[in-house]
Amino acid sequence: MDEKQTLAASLAAAKNAAANAYAPYSNFTVGAALNCEDGEIIAGCNMENASYGLTTCAERNAFATAIAQGKRNFSSIVIYTPLKKLVAPCGACRQVIAEFLPQDGKVILANDFGESKTWTVADMLPDAFTPAALNEK
Ligand code: THU
Repeated sequence: MDEKQTLAASLAAAKNAAANAYAPYSNFTVGAALNCEDGEIIAGCNMENASYGLTTCAERNAFATAIAQGKRNFSSIVIYTPLKKLVAPCGACRQVIAEFLPQDGKVILANDFGESKTWTVADMLPDAFTPAALNEK
C-alpha cells in the first residue's frame, strides 16, 4: 500500500471505531487508527463512564489493544471525529503517542470532508518527556 492507500484504510478503520464509540455523556465520538510497523491497522474508540473521570480516549484505547496484541512499533496514528473541525488529541494522549511513535512519526487529523492535517510527533508535543529521558544521568 502506498501512503494514500494507507491513509484511506486507516481513516476507514478510525471511522468504524468512532461509530462504536461509547459516549452517551458527551456525545462526542472519536476513532483512532494506528499503523503498525507490520502493516496492520489497529483501531480504538472513546469509552465513557457514569463516573466521568474513568473515561478513556480513542487514542489510548487503540494503543491498549495494539500493545495487548504484541505490537510495539507504529508509524502513524489517524484521529477521526465526525465533525467539520479537525480535532486534535488531548494532552494525555499526546504523551502516550510520544511514548510509542518516533519523533518523525505522523499524527493525522481527519474528517468526513476529505480534509486532514498532519503533524510529526515532534510538532505535536515539542520537547516531550520520552523513555530516553529515563536513561539520562
Ligand atoms: N476524547 C478522545 O477520545 N480523544 C481525545 O484526544 C480527546 C477527547 C473523548 C473523551 C470523551 O469521551 C470525549 O472525547 C469528550 O471529551
